[in-house]
Amino acid sequence: MILVTGGTGFIGSHTVCELIENGKEAVIVDNLSNSSDDVLDKIKKITGVKPAFVKGDLCDKALCDRLFKEYVIDSVIHFAGLKAVGESVQKPLEYYENNVYGTLNLLDAMRKNSVKKIVFSSSATVYGMKNTPPLKEDMPLSATNPYGRTKLFIEEILNDLYASDNGWSIVKLRYFNPVGAHPTGIIGEAPSGYPNNIMPVILRTAAGKIEQMCVFGADYDTPDGSCIRDYIHITDLAKGHIKALEYIEKTGAGCVAVNLGTGRGYSVFELIGAFERVTGKKVNYRVGERRKGDVAVCYADPTKAKELFGWTAEKGIDSMCEDAWRFQQNYGK
Ligand code: WQD
Repeated sequence: MILVTGGTGFIGSHTVCELIENGKEAVIVDNLSNSSDDVLDKIKKITGVKPAFVKGDLCDKALCDRLFKEYVIDSVIHFAGLKAVGESVQKPLEYYENNVYGTLNLLDAMRKNSVKKIVFSSSATVYGMKNTPPLKEDMPLSATNPYGRTKLFIEEILNDLYASDNGWSIVKLRYFNPVGAHPTGIIGEAPSGYPNNIMPVILRTAAGKIEQMCVFGADYDTPDGSCIRDYIHITDLAKGHIKALEYIEKTGAGCVAVNLGTGRGYSVFELIGAFERVTGKKVNYRVGERRKGDVAVCYADPTKAKELFGWTAEKGIDSMCEDAWRFQQNYGK
């Protein structure tokens, strides 16, 4: 059985669907701080199987230990954590506690119960501002905000853990910009409050819930002046986790960092243009100031994922827009 922490969230829920569709059994632990347990029925609607669920927080040490006593867990996919960059600047202690302390409890419970296989949800944010894309796994790492530092620190903790005991198998997946939704339109990204990320902003603008969105800067050194990102379809990203687990099973893995991105960048204007073309909806926008902390261009070198896992992203920008819009029309806030 695979323990999926944060399994009711955006990336977690899509990954649980992929696990089930690949014949694997999952148990989710989630504190529901940024998601809802409605997702469990939706997963059942998609896959025919309702995954086991424990409501709880990884900061609860006793709960972490209990999970491994109550379920026969073979490996862990660890998504649980807070993820809003701006909020992390306002509430650093909450971020360090939830993300870092929660991970320490999880790892300690794993060690005590001799479960030593983990896929960790890291982020391209660990490449910082100084590297030139395409970003490769062996580039120097840095972070510019508390959220990013939690990812970086957890990567370091995992490296130290592996150095202390080579019996661990650790894959740190560095995600680029996950967007889209399940093609059924049943699960997707539904942030509460004003969204931080661009796709939910586009969706709500197209749906008339945001009157006018803002493009953060059109004076970057890029062909159309707006920032370039490596958007990746959420189901491609989810499949990357299955491949990572298979890689662990096949090779023992060691401790490796692997990018999950397409290797292709799109500008903000290109993304809005693709969305309008695919959905036939107008996105009302204005160009505003640059957002603090944004880099002009960020995209992956996805070669390592292909070499190690045999994984490449298959879906393009059109499916990302089409599937995200379908979810928005069904369930969007
Ligand atoms: C994408 C582009 C914005 C909103 C962030 C985190 C990263 C990772 C993913 C998650 C940028 C522009 C956005 C808007 C805009 N973490 N934009 N108007 O910043 O690449 O990555 O999310 O857990 O760590 O930093 O993603 O979606 O916020 O922005 O013009 O209203 O869209 O400037 O160029 P980002 P994003």
